[in-house]
Amino acid sequence: MTIHSFDQLIDRKNTHSIKWDTTDVFFGATDVLPFWVADMDFLAPPNVLKAIDQRVKHGVLGYTVAGNSTAHAVQSWVKKRHQWAIQQEWISYSPGIVFAISMAIQAYTQKGDAILIQPPVYTPFFEMVKLNDRQLVESPLRFQNGRYEIDFTDLEEKLATGVKMMILCSPHNPVGRVWTQEELTKIAKLCKKYHVLILSDEIHSDLVYKPFVHTPISSLSEDAANRTITCIAPSKTFNIPGLQASAIIIPNQDLREQYEKQQKKQGFFSLSTFAIIGLESAYLHGEEWLEELLVYLKANIDFTKDFFNRYLPHLPIVEPEGTYLLWIDCRSLNQSEDELHHLLLNEGKIAVERGSKYGEKEGNRFIRLNIGCPRKQLEEGLNRIRKAFSTI
Ligand SMILES: Cc1ncc(COP(=O)(O)O)c(C=O)c1O
Repeated sequence: MTIHSFDQLIDRKNTHSIKWDTTDVFFGATDVLPFWVADMDFLAPPNVLKAIDQRVKHGVLGYTVAGNSTAHAVQSWVKKRHQWAIQQEWISYSPGIVFAISMAIQAYTQKGDAILIQPPVYTPFFEMVKLNDRQLVESPLRFQNGRYEIDFTDLEEKLATGVKMMILCSPHNPVGRVWTQEELTKIAKLCKKYHVLILSDEIHSDLVYKPFVHTPISSLSEDAANRTITCIAPSKTFNIPGLQASAIIIPNQDLREQYEKQQKKQGFFSLSTFAIIGLESAYLHGEEWLEELLVYLKANIDFTKDFFNRYLPHLPIVEPEGTYLLWIDCRSLNQSEDELHHLLLNEGKIAVERGSKYGEKEGNRFIRLNIGCPRKQLEEGLNRIRKAFSTI
């Protein structure tokens, strides 16, 4: 039985929404329908809203700290969803995962150290490495027959050059791969061979479509656990990124102490009141909502694929195994990326992400489309893309 209506259209304008209220800043336009930033246009799970409401009714908003109940919520979630048994003391908290990535870079590497990423990949991976004055080493994914794979020969060559840390996106934004146990095992073995730490960003790990299965790389072996910092969050899963709550799981005691010291050094003390309430209520009472969300998102993906097959068959969509982000190859249009976005913004009145944000070469002339919205809104967006490209 459906408990939630994902079809409800909600006006998000004037709510301090990055996606809806800053298109003038990022796209130079206010009259565009937004399909860019990775949040969804759905209400948060009812149990989360209820828990926050109750906390507001209490009325005192003093300092808060994540406690045993918070750790219990994280532990039970990863056990239930990913068959990963973790200990309470392994868990630290961070407002966001991008912040945690920056903290880990500062905690474990020095200026000038090499850090590896796999473009096309989430833009802040590039930014955090560069802003911290570390050296960016890129091992691009290989795009073959419409599917992205890891080029293990290239990865090994690069890791062998003295790379200190690898930032893994698992599942991978924007290409939607859910790395297999076999692939993750190979990565872990290479990182062991070349003494490389793994920062595994698993923010999308709950948004995976059957038959694909997410495996936390840290759960593969004792060695993998000892060299991995895993970042998870209820933010994408339950559409609560505005609450800013993430859990950073570090089994190795030395690494954990270094990480926590770095957060302290930056003046971070604890999660906010609503971050804690949101994290606990989502992980403890959000599973049924998530199962329904996954069905809805999968139907949105199928709807988009049907639409493209019918009207834009020359633009292949990379099959997503997870995430609500579609990676669409627009190279056959023979337009530059600027030309593509000029059409999308001015003819279509739609804002999507530019592929080159995820890798100048690897993402050029791809677009990333966020399908996490009511179907009617998605249909409107798809019609706008069709209109934009009909002029070519
Ligand atoms: C791979 C990945 N990591 C991190 C984030 C953002 O994390 P946070 O908002 O917790 O900093 C995103 C958001 O799109 C993402 O796709």
